[in-house]
Amino acid sequence: MKTPIPKDPETAFGTNSPAAHSPVPIRPEDDPIGAAELGLSSEEAAQFRTQGFVIKRGLIAREEFSPFLELFWSQPPILQAGAKQDDSTTWIAPGRFWPKENRWGLARNWMGDAAWPAASKHRHGAAIGERVGRLPHKLTQDISNDVWRWHGIGHDPDFVNATSAHPNVMYMAEALMGGPVKRPHRNRGIYAIFPRDPRGPVSALGPHMDANMAEMQVVTLLEDVEPGGGGFTFYPGSAQSLYHTSQQALNWVATPESKKIMDTIKKNTVPVEFTGKAGDVVFCHGWIVHSAGVHEGKRIRLAAIQDLNRSRTRGHMRWTAAGKQGGPRINCDMDGVFRFTTDGPDNAADGMREVTNQWIMDSNEFVADRRAPDEDMFADWNLGKHAVQGNVIDETPWWDRYKLPLLPTGDVARGGGGTPAIALENIATYAGDGCWHVNLHANL
Ligand SMILES: [Fe+2]
Repeated sequence: MKTPIPKDPETAFGTNSPAAHSPVPIRPEDDPIGAAELGLSSEEAAQFRTQGFVIKRGLIAREEFSPFLELFWSQPPILQAGAKQDDSTTWIAPGRFWPKENRWGLARNWMGDAAWPAASKHRHGAAIGERVGRLPHKLTQDISNDVWRWHGIGHDPDFVNATSAHPNVMYMAEALMGGPVKRPHRNRGIYAIFPRDPRGPVSALGPHMDANMAEMQVVTLLEDVEPGGGGFTFYPGSAQSLYHTSQQALNWVATPESKKIMDTIKKNTVPVEFTGKAGDVVFCHGWIVHSAGVHEGKRIRLAAIQDLNRSRTRGHMRWTAAGKQGGPRINCDMDGVFRFTTDGPDNAADGMREVTNQWIMDSNEFVADRRAPDEDMFADWNLGKHAVQGNVIDETPWWDRYKLPLLPTGDVARGGGGTPAIALENIATYAGDGCWHVNLHANL
């Protein structure tokens, strides 16, 4: 199949039309039979097939999260805001205390040995102000709520064991996707949505689809979430509608039809908000349309955002190269090729150019199989057909195969870390004519 035009790995798939409907909370009494049991009832399997999600209640004991919640209250975004665990008045809109740029929890490893650059800093491999990519503590002040995406905890081995690689989660992954399941070594971390300033604008949805290779998107509640309390919000049946518009079955490749369908979903589908208790987990198809939840409550919404995949033969990573002397950012395609123009302001043969990837993902590589969508999108899913056998494969993570920094080292504290930019010439070879070919270290 023809190689698709590469997309920036940080872009989600969406359209400009607004969400027409407010979310409806989904409570335990709405679940099909079997929600409190390990495994899939036939009602749950049928719901996943048509709606693209299933919720398992109490899948993980809430006590397992205690060490991470304790760590949460000692992290820089909390300390900077003076927020206290026992005083909910200090949880409101902490973003006003956050620095414009933070470089907390980072090693001196940018392009080998430099500090991760601030926006105004001159750099050797990129234009001033080029984006740095994900930080271990990504802080945003959204329209209404302040959000801290703590990506740095997402590669903490104990946190992964208590969430994505928890035996009950692996069991459900195999019951849904079928084996072999890829044992996750990281997830996106803890996403904390803070109560909004009551004087500010009300909370609103931002529906999108993540446009990556994840086969399932999984959200685990680390604290209880009341209706209207910022619960993960998604559009039932949306993955089913989008699937057939993709050029490929396993790598999302949008077509003009995809945009039309996205608009229809936002117009016609009532989104649901995942509410419940700590330890409840929602498993969704990876291409489900979703949004951060509307948060008009008084608590901090704390959830682990995760991606799960089958163990599959993979291809190249989704690399992106920064513009340097005025040229645009260039993304690597599925063949592992960067194509720079030879008559632009950037020297195409310059290998001292910043290259990054979306390091928050557990599976950061294209699936090698580029087949077109199947007639039945669940043709090779299990969906309760076969008994779970513990068919989980512990692959070497991409950061070890590519010898990239990720885990905290030296004096970087637990909860920090992340993959810095490296030089293009360290991962790819110049083939002339503006083309750089990445040296493949896939799990072939
Ligand atoms: Fe998303």
